[in-house]
Amino acid sequence: MAILISGRGSNMVALVEAMRGGRIAAEPVLVLSNVAGAAGLERARSLGVPTAVVPSGEFESREAHEEAVLGHLRRVGPDLVCLAGYMRLLSPRFVEAYRDRIMNIHPALLPAFPGLEAQRKALEHGVKVSGCTVHLVDEQCDHGPIILQSAVPVLEDDTVDSLSARILEQEHRIYPEAVSLFFEGRLRVEGRRVLILP
Ligand code: GRF
Repeated sequence: MAILISGRGSNMVALVEAMRGGRIAAEPVLVLSNVAGAAGLERARSLGVPTAVVPSGEFESREAHEEAVLGHLRRVGPDLVCLAGYMRLLSPRFVEAYRDRIMNIHPALLPAFPGLEAQRKALEHGVKVSGCTVHLVDEQCDHGPIILQSAVPVLEDDTVDSLSARILEQEHRIYPEAVSLFFEGRLRVEGRRVLILP
């Protein structure tokens, strides 16, 4: 599998460690970042995973940047592409190239609070429960069929940081679990529903 990141890469590390530990029957073939200085790149290198940088700022257009990213993916031919804090929207062309083979993790219980700063939005909205969602990527932002979710309580003294940390712990648990189900061939997509086969 290939993993796309833009930042610290803690979910990427959770995925790579799960592969290395035999909890996911797959190999990490590439960690690609659209940000040159992303901390996750160094973490990927120290785990011995091949890395690539395709800086979004250095391309004339969104399409040109994406074409370069797709070029790297074509080279390694992943069965699955995981977005792990990748801060770019994918075009319909990208989604079509890997239909039902792109996953994302979002730090809220979708369809609540899609987009940026989900934990802050949840806190400000006053919800009592939030969490995270692993979903397949479709043409809309944080929208595709849901694979797994995990809920956490929102406490009265929570800050964005404390809530984010509680959610992140669950992200690191359910993202590897969802990817593992994919590689075991146990996910069946029926419209918006993802069935988990025995
Ligand atoms: C996570 O909260 C993830 O849910 C969101 O971006 C953040 C990435 O964190 N999509 P990390 O780079 O995996 O540490």
